[in-house]
Amino acid sequence: QQLEIKLEMLEKGGYDHFMLKEIYEQPRSIGDCMRGRIYPLEGKVKLGGIKEYTEKFKNAHRIIIVACGTSWHAGLVGEYLIEEYARIPVEVEYASEFRYRNPIITENDIVIAISQSGETADTMAAIEMAKAKGATIFGICNVVGSSIPRLSDAGIYTHAGPEIGVASTKAFTAQVTALTLMAFYMAEKKGTIAQTKLIALLSELERIPSLVERALQSDGLIREISEKFKDSRNALFLGRGSGFPVALEGALKLKEISYIHAEGYPAAEMKHGPIALIDEQMPVIVIATKNSSYEKVISNIQEVKARKGVVIAIVTEGDTEVVRMADYSIEIPSADEAFLPLLATIPLQLLSYHIAVLRGCNVDQPRNLAKSVTVE
Ligand code: G6P
Repeated sequence: QQLEIKLEMLEKGGYDHFMLKEIYEQPRSIGDCMRGRIYPLEGKVKLGGIKEYTEKFKNAHRIIIVACGTSWHAGLVGEYLIEEYARIPVEVEYASEFRYRNPIITENDIVIAISQSGETADTMAAIEMAKAKGATIFGICNVVGSSIPRLSDAGIYTHAGPEIGVASTKAFTAQVTALTLMAFYMAEKKGTIAQTKLIALLSELERIPSLVERALQSDGLIREISEKFKDSRNALFLGRGSGFPVALEGALKLKEISYIHAEGYPAAEMKHGPIALIDEQMPVIVIATKNSSYEKVISNIQEVKARKGVVIAIVTEGDTEVVRMADYSIEIPSADEAFLPLLATIPLQLLSYHIAVLRGCNVDQPRNLAKSVTVE
């Protein structure tokens, strides 16, 4: 038995839980996802897995992303990136809903299935249906040789390495990295991005692993903040633009592993409902980094403060304006808005991890959840 315990410690690489190990692996896993795929000096992205289908992407009328859970959140980030840079309309669907509707799919559509395990039953059924209607299917999966890549026409692997913690962390940021690569790839092929802009973005993307490393340095501070909120019963996560799926993912992580009820909302929608819940008991986690929606988010924070909500803000390094208004602030390094989801996700993962540990929850194997859902 002692041997078993030692083996487990070894597998966790010195971390208390697989989840924490996997959170800390992200500088490497994000780097592995882009290795050999980006060429900043040439302003090129090379994706062997989808090269044959370049024309198909250029002529696609629409991209439909299907996924479940955390992978669906990555899909929402993908929607922002692909529409922003490649100017192709994107729809993001829950695989379980998509498969039971009678969706309009044509041969000019591309369906991208996102799945860590590559085995999720609903996602598999959704792509089988889309395939039968003539769509081209791409897979973005982590587990090599799993079912979804085999069912797909083509695709790319995320190369995050095995993820043991049931709550997805490094697989999510690898999915977002893969979608970022695809968006830039399509943009370059379609000519919807200036070469100089692409060179600048790719150079910055190459530095993201080291920026993620920096974001991880807030771990101690996040642990202290977690102490204050470990007994909360509810939490609200707000973000705008691509910060919105990050808010959804932050809320999902918290509820999955700490069993605190949490909701993610687009910050501007708060006034259409969740604002009614805000009082001094309600922590509101706001993605308030310096980007195009900064000023708007500031007014959302004022609305929360006016109702005595407690604000935990994710801010850009060096920020003073939000820091003055918020009760707690966690800094992330400054980067182009395209990379906001990769950086802002890190403190939210750590926040849910520490809160769950402080509550005595089984973070690696939360109750009622499975790593891979192979049944309907
Ligand atoms: C389960 C897992 C989640 C995951 C979802 C989709 O619910 O607990 O972490 O996001 O399935 O899984 P997939 O393997 O398709 O990404």
